This record gives sequence, C-alpha cells and structure tokens, in this order.
Amino acid sequence: MPKIPFELLSRFTTSANAKSLFLSFEGIEGAGKSTQINTASNFLKSAGYDVLLLREPGGTEFGERLRSAILNSQKDLHPLSEAFLFASSRAQLLYEVILPKLKQDGTAVICDRYIDSSIAYQGYARKLGTQTVLEIHGHHPLTIVPHQTFYIKISPQTSLERQKIRNQKKDYFESKGLAFYESLVKGYEEAAALFPHRIISIDGEKDQTSVSAQLELKLKELIK
Ligand code: TYD
Repeated sequence: MPKIPFELLSRFTTSANAKSLFLSFEGIEGAGKSTQINTASNFLKSAGYDVLLLREPGGTEFGERLRSAILNSQKDLHPLSEAFLFASSRAQLLYEVILPKLKQDGTAVICDRYIDSSIAYQGYARKLGTQTVLEIHGHHPLTIVPHQTFYIKISPQTSLERQKIRNQKKDYFESKGLAFYESLVKGYEEAAALFPHRIISIDGEKDQTSVSAQLELKLKELIK
C-alpha cells in the first residue's frame, strides 16, 4: 500500500457540531446498501433523530445533472475527469445541504456513498491512485468526512451472483467483470486502513436481517 503523507490525511475532519450525526454507506454493487440505509434510518428515527437521506452523486439540482452526465456517458471518461466531477457534486452537496443541516442539533445525515467511493472507483478501479483522490478532496469543504462510514463488505463473486439475479439495466460502472470488482474491494480495504476510526466494515455476505442486527449494534454504540 503506498504511503500517504500524514499532512494530507490529517486535513480530513468531521463536522464541528457534536449534536448531529453524519454517516455514509459504502459497498460494491449488490452489497445491500439500500436495505441497510433503511435500517439505519429507522433506527435513528426511533432514537429521536431528524434523518435526511442523500445519495451521491446527486442530492442537489447541479449534482443530479452531473449524475446523469456521468452515469449515462456513452464514452469512457478520463479517470481525472470522473474524480473531479464526483468531487464537484460532493462539494456542492456539502455547501448546499450537508453543512447547513449538520448545524442543526438532532440531525442525522445519511449519505449513500461518499469519498470512499471515489477512493475505490477512481483511485483503484480507474487507477488514479488514492493520493490523487485525497489531494482533490484536500480543500474545504471537501475535507469534511462522516463521523462513521459503514462499509458493507461482500466478495466480487457474491456481487456478480447477486447482479445475475437482479438483471437490471447496466449504467456506466455496472457492466464490468470480476477484475473491476476485485480492485474496488482493494480500494475499500485501503480506505479502511487509512481511516480506521471512521470506517467500520460489516459482513454483507449474511442474510439482510443479520446484517441489520450487526449495524444496529454499531449504531447503538455510536449514539450512546
Ligand atoms: P448508483 O446507481 O447510485 O449506484 P449504486 O446503486 O451501486 O450506489 O450510481 C453511482 C455510481 O457511481 C456507482 O457505480 C459508483 C459510482 N461512483 C464513483 O465512481 N465515484 C464516486 O465518488 C461516487 C459517489 C460514485
């Protein structure tokens, strides 16, 4: 694993308000992110939080336009273009939505994908390198990261098997083979090693009920 300068890593911080929560969910296709985001949302609502669900890229008018530009692209984009487009959507989402929301006590912002997707997809699968992805995010507001990130971990084989069953229309990143998913998993593993306090891996191979049970345990610890 290449060594990332400490000065760069130390730029990443959480929001200043300790009375609100910022969470993100990560995983490769078929990991069960949506189900677990639903679990987290219900759990936090019953604990009294005002929950806001967001997805990346997207969540603002500008971000949704970038989303369709990237995901409907017929041509392969340069990995650096991809990284800047995702970061641009993220900066706008932070500025317009996430940061104002986190100022309100009792809010929980849950993001479907965040910076670790850029590390896995652009940094690893598209081979830009983690350091470049982190450098792109090295300026405010992109240095604000979630309090906790749940990485729902499944193997590339499980991903491909689950995709076969779903058989949905594929977009930009979804018609790829085993090697692509293997590199995503490596990317997520590097992210988890670089940010061990923020990223919690959850075993997504089990049935969704036991994955939800693991997640609820972690959430209980987080809000106690
Ligand atoms: P989406 O349909 O939301 O995928 P999923 O349901 O798997 O979350 O599309 C988002 C796609 O964009 C997904 O393939 C991952 C990719 N992506 C990146 O490559 N980099 C990023 O920084 C983000 C946020 C997403």
